[in-house]
Amino acid sequence: MADKIDKLPGVGEKTLEKFKEAGYDNMMAIAASSPGTLSTDTGVGEETAAKIIAAARESLQMGFETATNVLKKREAVGRVTTGSKTLDKLLGGGVETQAILEAHGAFGSAKTQLALQLAVNVQLPLEKGGLGGKALYIDTEGSFRPERIIEMAKGVGLDPKKVMENIMIARAYNSDHQVVLTDKAEEVIKKEGIRIVIVDSLMAAFRSDYTGRGTLANRQQKLNRHLHALQKLADVYNLAVYVTNQVMSRPDVMFGDPTAPIGGHILGHQATFRLYLRKSKGEKRIAKLIDSPNLPEGETIFIVTGEGIKDA
Ligand code: GTP
Ligand code: MG
Repeated sequence: MADKIDKLPGVGEKTLEKFKEAGYDNMMAIAASSPGTLSTDTGVGEETAAKIIAAARESLQMGFETATNVLKKREAVGRVTTGSKTLDKLLGGGVETQAILEAHGAFGSAKTQLALQLAVNVQLPLEKGGLGGKALYIDTEGSFRPERIIEMAKGVGLDPKKVMENIMIARAYNSDHQVVLTDKAEEVIKKEGIRIVIVDSLMAAFRSDYTGRGTLANRQQKLNRHLHALQKLADVYNLAVYVTNQVMSRPDVMFGDPTAPIGGHILGHQATFRLYLRKSKGEKRIAKLIDSPNLPEGETIFIVTGEGIKDA
């Protein structure tokens, strides 16, 4: 996948440098881009960008592919255990690579606990429900707790010291910073063998940076690009993406649950799996699968213990 990009038409020495700086250093990254994005990111004109993308796709023989090929890609999908067998089952066997899983819920519903747990569990060997890989963690709320990582690592029988070394954390201070960190993530992902990217929380910074009504379109546009970048990482590096999201109350809803995840339809379309988490009694949490391309909707209960997420 790390095919050299210097053979593309219209890509001279200088452009090549710009491409590399912007993270487009392999054919797949270019092929999966759009002319607008590539142009903004690298400074080449949109027409040139379109030609370059077309050439990259040609060289990768993208476009239509056989169902056999799609199946082959699907077979490469890895799964990370959540720590709870019933929650794994709800998700079709765990948190999938090549996909984005969004979890939304009120405060204390265990969105961050699941994030921490996945950062630990991805390090487990295959036979224990991990991918033997590292985690990249973008923390926008300052809620990352190394103490919890230590407890959870012990809980799954891993060496806490090693586990801590295998989680790369960045604190994002606003939505721009969050987007930049995601763009920069590619270098780290390649170098470190990252198999899960976590963004906790995906929406908080976007929500506070774009408050007035007039800015909503801008926010959605930027969110859209951010999610595209995450999905691209998931596809190109066969890694899992887990993002958390808050809910807002919807006074217009009379029946059923008067809360809705923020981020609107953009997030709804781009997250492959969506979980709605709710508090129940004590340690119990209820997880509901909302949207999935190939799984039935359903609910399950798990618990958050001192050692992390477990079956109820
Ligand atoms: P916000 O980020 O505030 O929206 O909430 P969240 O959904 O991220 O909640 P989080 O994952 O932080 O869950 C917090 C809950 O996890 C607490 O209310 C506790 O019930 C549980 N929890 C956190 N730490 C521990 C711990 O060390 N031991 C146990 N048993 N439970 C814990
Ligand atoms: Mg949280």
